[in-house]
Amino acid sequence: MPLQQGSARLRQRTILLVGISVLLVLLVIVVVLASVRGRPEVSPKMLKWQDNGTTKNLSEVILGRCYNFIRVQRPELGDKDCQKIWESLKDAFIYKNPCNITPEDYQPLMELASHPIPCNKSLFWSKTNDLVHRYTKSNTNFLTLEDTLLGYMADNISWCGDPSAPGINYESCPRRSECESNPKSVFWKVASKMFAEAACGVVQVMLNGSIEAGAFRSTSIFASVEVLNLDPNKVSEVHIWLMQDIGGPQSESCSGRSIQKLKSILEEKNFKVICEDNYRPVQLLQCVQNPDHTDCRLCTNSTAFP
Ligand SMILES: *[C@@H]1O[C@H](CO)[C@@H](O)[C@H](O)[C@H]1NC(C)=O
Ligand SMILES: *[C@@H]1O[C@H](CO)[C@@H](O)[C@H](O)[C@H]1NC(C)=O
Ligand SMILES: *[C@@H]1O[C@H](CO)[C@@H](O)[C@H](O)[C@H]1NC(C)=O
Ligand SMILES: *[C@@H]1O[C@H](CO)[C@@H](O)[C@H](O)[C@H]1NC(C)=O
Ligand SMILES: *[C@@H]1O[C@H](CO)[C@@H](O)[C@H](O)[C@H]1NC(C)=O
Ligand SMILES: *[C@@H]1O[C@H](CO)[C@@H](O)[C@H](O)[C@H]1NC(C)=O
Repeated sequence: MPLQQGSARLRQRTILLVGISVLLVLLVIVVVLASVRGRPEVSPKMLKWQDNGTTKNLSEVILGRCYNFIRVQRPELGDKDCQKIWESLKDAFIYKNPCNITPEDYQPLMELASHPIPCNKSLFWSKTNDLVHRYTKSNTNFLTLEDTLLGYMADNISWCGDPSAPGINYESCPRRSECESNPKSVFWKVASKMFAEAACGVVQVMLNGSIEAGAFRSTSIFASVEVLNLDPNKVSEVHIWLMQDIGGPQSESCSGRSIQKLKSILEEKNFKVICEDNYRPVQLLQCVQNPDHTDCRLCTNSTAFP
């Protein structure tokens, strides 16, 4: 009897154990199924857009560029709080609909990151992105927006928010054609306005004489933001450097229509205007890549030394 009782208890225990195990397995299956089903409901709430999403590791990139700028490139500018600068950039767009950004969103960032720009150094540009920055790298007498802390941090970078967690959209961001008030476009408008307002003395602009639609286009940031915000009390002269590609096309020269239009706008603001076709110091830089072209000959034709 005691033997039988013992084996009956053993059987009961075995049944109990098997029962618990089955329940556990079922529970695990239910949890796994629920999480697999639940997952697609959590993240695709992010809005979908046509442009590239936020640059990966945005905070590290912004912080790294900020510290590089203030510690290595321009230590003479003195202390800036890079951590606060990143926070204020983030606060401008995180968790917001990326079509509802306003200039006010960037005001704290503008105040934290701005620094003085010496007179005579401001260099504006339109459609000469590569050439103008090669030039400011080789001649520190001139500064573009991308050579200031604000412009340097944001150069070549994308960012936008989204109302759902984690508040930043790394998949896609709106193009300007989808909505004008997107984080990037508003930032560049605000930063360009501030850069133009800071200009004083002689300012220069490098335009592209190989653009068929004209070197000065009314839709450009230069025309629609920068020219309008030059301060007549501070700016005295505007020097236009009209650069054509080596070997053409030669779409516009200083006597061209869009340049005449620009000149009249600037002269109305009482600036003295000088336009130079293929400003030689910049052309020499173009010639680095086209040394054999006739436009790049160091001397004009001479038969004196055969
Ligand atoms: C988007 O990202 C791709 C791949 O990283 C890059 O080649 C392209 O230039 C980017 N487009 C824009 C508009 O930044
Ligand atoms: C950079 O971003 C990736 C995801 O895109 C992430 O896995 C990684 O941890 C980030 N690196 C740092 C240092 O934050
Ligand atoms: C700016 O240029 C003007 C005209 O060339 C010159 O008179 C002035 O001294 C310059 N200012 C500075 C700060 O270099
Ligand atoms: C002018 O614009 C064209 C087309 O965008 C570009 O390929 C060229 O490099 C530009 N030229 C200069 C001098 O920047
Ligand atoms: C942005 O891209 C251009 C062209 O590739 C490059 O010359 C420049 O250094 C980049 N800017 C920064 C801040 O890395
Ligand atoms: C220089 O000589 C070349 C070939 O002899 C000629 O095509 C060109 O027009 C000349 N340029 C000038 C500025 O005289």
